[in-house]
Amino acid sequence: MISDPKEPSINIDSFWMPRQGSSIAKEIDFAFWGVYWLDIVMFVALMAAMAWFMYRYKRRTDKDKVSDVTHNMKLEIAWTIIPTVIVIGLFGLGLRGYLQAAVAPAEAYEIRVVAQTWAWTFMYPNGRVTTGGLDGEGLVVPKGRPVKLIMSSQDVVHSFWVAEFRVKQDVVPGTYTTLWFEPTEVGDTALQCTEYCGKDHSNMFATVHVLDEAKFKEWTEKNPGEELPPAVWGKQLFAQRTCNTCHSLDGSRIQGPSFKGLWGRTETISDGSSVKVDENYIRESLLEPQKKIVQGYPGVMPTFKGLLKDKEIDALIAYLKTVQ
Ligand code: CUA
Repeated sequence: MISDPKEPSINIDSFWMPRQGSSIAKEIDFAFWGVYWLDIVMFVALMAAMAWFMYRYKRRTDKDKVSDVTHNMKLEIAWTIIPTVIVIGLFGLGLRGYLQAAVAPAEAYEIRVVAQTWAWTFMYPNGRVTTGGLDGEGLVVPKGRPVKLIMSSQDVVHSFWVAEFRVKQDVVPGTYTTLWFEPTEVGDTALQCTEYCGKDHSNMFATVHVLDEAKFKEWTEKNPGEELPPAVWGKQLFAQRTCNTCHSLDGSRIQGPSFKGLWGRTETISDGSSVKVDENYIRESLLEPQKKIVQGYPGVMPTFKGLLKDKEIDALIAYLKTVQ
């Protein structure tokens, strides 16, 4: 694993802004600061003019006459044309940035992103899978190469946000949304869900590791779990897939049944029938969790269909057998 078990943090370059970590960051910041300074100049100029007019044209005596000027063509043309040009310029700036952000280069490296309450899963073209959270390896991307994310949600609306990359996109159930960026700085930064999605929304984060091209190639070529004994790999998967969010190992009740002494026990199902916990029940519960829900628990477990490979399910089963 590359990451330390701690919450990821954002690299701060200036007092106001996170580091510019992607190729588009400069453009986004330029547009932001352009509008920001324009606002400040306009505000100061307007307030100064207002104060001056209040002082200069105050009605001091009853004999002060109201001006009979009704219009000024030059002035009116000026205050129409100048703001129009400014606004069109801002639109052009925004459109250029938007088009750059909307269309991913054809040669982009594609990563599937799956969001669920409250975890991120990342799937790479070579079959590697990583997850977010404290124990997950996080999102691993190459420096200097465009990366395209194809994202979907298993349940509610989430939102993918990496401040250093200046990119943000909603992740929605029932459809795919995409996002692309080209990292420009090697190192770690933070990905955070920015759509309120329930109790543990604030824990729905992941570390983003930007590796240089050689290290990234090395990383994509190995899947370290497969070389471990199944029960050991299963224990890692249990943590990485954040099973522990809902299933305790010490008998305490969280969202789902505790896994203490799980193997071989007989569970009562919501329809009153019973089932013995064996390989097939665990497999079915991972792939079709709503089919046999243990009585007294809400059916809130998301499916892991397509997210866990058969080898990984085998490893999880091997691990659960060892939980006493
Ligand atoms: Cu997912 Cu907030």
